[in-house]
Amino acid sequence: MPTANKMLEGSFSARRSPRATESGVSGEFDGSDESKTRKHVSVAARVTNYLIRTGFIWPVLIMGIAIVIISSLVIYSRDLVCISASSSAHISRLFVGFDGLESDFGSLGVPWCRSKHGATVEWTSQDLIEGLEEFVPIYETRPIKNNMYGMGFDHSFGLWFITRWLKPDLMIESGAFKGHSTWVLRQAMPDTPIVSLSPRHPEKYLKKGAAYVDGNCTYFAGKDFLDFGSMDWGRVMKKHRIEDQSRVLVFFDDHQNELKRLKQALKAGFKHLVFEDNYDTGTGDHYSFRQICDQFYVRGGGHSCFKDSDEARIRSRRKKFWEKAVDVEELCGPGEEWWGVRGHMRDDFNHSNKAITYNKHFQNSRFVESVLDVYWELPPVAGPSLTHQTRYDPARVPGPIVEDGRYGLFQRVGLSRLESSVFNGYTQMVYLRVSEPET
Ligand SMILES: C[S@@+](CC[C@H](N)C(=O)[O-])C[C@H]1O[C@@H](n2cnc3c(N)ncnc32)[C@H](O)[C@@H]1O
Repeated sequence: MPTANKMLEGSFSARRSPRATESGVSGEFDGSDESKTRKHVSVAARVTNYLIRTGFIWPVLIMGIAIVIISSLVIYSRDLVCISASSSAHISRLFVGFDGLESDFGSLGVPWCRSKHGATVEWTSQDLIEGLEEFVPIYETRPIKNNMYGMGFDHSFGLWFITRWLKPDLMIESGAFKGHSTWVLRQAMPDTPIVSLSPRHPEKYLKKGAAYVDGNCTYFAGKDFLDFGSMDWGRVMKKHRIEDQSRVLVFFDDHQNELKRLKQALKAGFKHLVFEDNYDTGTGDHYSFRQICDQFYVRGGGHSCFKDSDEARIRSRRKKFWEKAVDVEELCGPGEEWWGVRGHMRDDFNHSNKAITYNKHFQNSRFVESVLDVYWELPPVAGPSLTHQTRYDPARVPGPIVEDGRYGLFQRVGLSRLESSVFNGYTQMVYLRVSEPET
């Protein structure tokens, strides 16, 4: 505050002095100001004379003109950003800087599933910041440096943070790929058993490069693979001596219809669920909670397919900047079906794609709300002017943990040490606490 006051005083006094001169209040200040101007004039005159004498005046003039032309082109390019390639969009953003597109988190609305009693998570933004400071050095030691098609930094942090907070007695993972998420779970809980389901065993990836296989993990993978919905969970609980199912955390990164997974998890009695890819409406390869809860009664929920609407105009503008942003043409099917992905409920990496009515979609959201005790979307770890992420559109996302402009904090928690590509995988990871519907 004292600094801000000082800065304010400074700006007031700077404005006051010319007015004082105009109103005829002369004196020392006028005199000193005038001498400063005179000094500038004589320095400029001396520089010009020197340049004329040495013959450098023309090169300097030409360089000056070139700088003016290049700057005007850069400023003009603000209006010419119809470039879809990510790098081009990123470059134009770097030049454009803050033009109201980067810092407007949630401006197109952030659909949010309503819980039964409005409860929320225990942790605060301060807990998240402290968690970041602790997690960055851990993340730097990850065995799989290039985890393309798997989790990036934001979701790795989210999974680690939630797991460490809940301290489960058993961790279940569906969708392991090369084993990065198994490694993250292990960092959060060094001695807790893991059960991992994945069609291909992570050890298979070891032949080609980095992968992680955990020593305290039971794999249902390769020839032993079983889908989450086909598992005898009672047996697994017995084997791990779990008596209270609320002591188990289930993590899904298997790109299956999340409504289907929710029903299977409820049936098995699990209460704490994390879904990695909680895709926004109109995007992604499976039906997600974000999509299910995108309803007219929530802020930013429900959509207009009218091409001249405000939403259409804003969306088409944002699409030029953010790879994952969708305009209304992509959002809406031929009969103006905007829910799910163009009126479809996708499943299994989009191998199944079933049309559903809006009425059915609405019923799905009512069911989800009837079993939700808590719904919490992980915010992005930092704003895009800090991370240089180019994919998700901030307009559909809650405010980041480290806000744009807070470079000091970004640096202090260690995020500035990470490559910008690790911030490109954010898809609204969500934590759910669920229980059977109340009668
Ligand atoms: C996006 S990758 C998982 C990435 C991983 N969690 C990570 O952080 O690196 C999705 C994985 O789900 C697996 N998968 C496909 N169908 C599955 C199913 N029915 N159950 C479990 N995993 C499945 C895929 O083989 C793939 O390994």
